[in-house]
Amino acid sequence: MPTIEVRFASGARTDCVIEPGALQRLPALCAGAGLGGTPGLLCDARVLSLHRDALLPLGEHLGDPIGRAVSEARKTLPEVEAMCEALTARGVGRDGYVVAIGGGVLTDLAGLAAALYMRGVPWVSVPSTLLAQVDAGLGGKTGANLSAGKNLIGAFHQPRLVICDPLLLATLPSRERWSGLAEVVKCALLEGGDLLQRCERDLERAAAGEAEALAPLVEGAVRLKARIVAADEREGGQRAFLNLGHTVGHALEAATGYTHFSHGEAVALGLRGMLALCDGMPERDRALRLVERIRIAAGSGLDSGQREAALQAMRRDKKVRRGGVRFVLLERIGTPVLREASAEDCARALAAALA
Ligand SMILES: NC(=O)c1ccc[n+]([C@@H]2O[C@H](COP(=O)([O-])OP(=O)(O)OC[C@H]3O[C@@H](n4cnc5c(N)ncnc54)[C@H](O)[C@@H]3O)[C@@H](O)[C@H]2O)c1
Ligand SMILES: [Zn+2]
Repeated sequence: MPTIEVRFASGARTDCVIEPGALQRLPALCAGAGLGGTPGLLCDARVLSLHRDALLPLGEHLGDPIGRAVSEARKTLPEVEAMCEALTARGVGRDGYVVAIGGGVLTDLAGLAAALYMRGVPWVSVPSTLLAQVDAGLGGKTGANLSAGKNLIGAFHQPRLVICDPLLLATLPSRERWSGLAEVVKCALLEGGDLLQRCERDLERAAAGEAEALAPLVEGAVRLKARIVAADEREGGQRAFLNLGHTVGHALEAATGYTHFSHGEAVALGLRGMLALCDGMPERDRALRLVERIRIAAGSGLDSGQREAALQAMRRDKKVRRGGVRFVLLERIGTPVLREASAEDCARALAAALA
């Protein structure tokens, strides 16, 4: 059983357990991590209905799961407050803890609830989508949306444990699995080596939900993220590399109102755009071949108004500094670099993403 131990400069520590069937060991893992007091088990209502048989027995040790019908549209502060109310009703005290089972929306909200409840109680993240396992679970960023934009409120609050059970992913719609795989491919390009080879070999099997193919990909992506966030807990340096493919990706999502592309689809197209700017990169064709295998269910045709909106979004991207857009590029596979990109570069990347 791979357990990845991450120690942060703040003194916080997160243990990540990645193992098919890990969910069943959740009470023992919590006890082993020294978590005591009354727990509050917050659960994505959809996951609760799909995995009832696996989740209800956990109630014996963790209290009955508290189902929350969350969605990106309801990723708001009132939902965080409702979660906190449910924790008080459950009798969770200062010495208690929160367990969050669900996609990235649920874990971001429940992590924020844990950060605020009684001025902060420990929490355990059990991400149930591939995207959340490889990205949202580890790193301590919690948050909610404002009408002005996504994740505009939040807190850093490191989970004590991250439990990734690839068996949970069997019920994910295929498009959600592909969305998570785009982030795995991003990690493979940042890392190279074994993770890249596994992606090249097993991408379609993983997309079909085979736990044996998924587990090592989740582990490889989590190991990479663990290394990066341990060195950069509060996002001042290396964490920027995790934005590979995201400058164009975010712009595509914003220009299409966050409804047309899944996040991973936008990232996959963003990776194509990024590669177009990596002039002289060795093995660029190899990288492109892998990226082009990521299935994109949404049509990638954008009208001229949307293309213009995407270019404007890139200029507004939070990495904009002194008039330049900061792109993460690859010098080679495994070696990311930050570069200022001109307006012309942005247009070239967008055209390549949508070609
Ligand atoms: N904190 C971070 O560092 C971080 C990183 C990346 C993304 N995020 C956040 O994560 C969110 C996206 O996460 P997501 O892609 O998991 O979306 P999500 O939480 O909306 O889940 C997608 C859908 O899948 C359902 N679902 C969850 N688990 C399932 C399962 N096992 N089987 C079937 N259906 C299941 C959910 O109910 C939902 O309908 C965004 O809000 C984003 O901001 C946070
Ligand atoms: Zn992403």
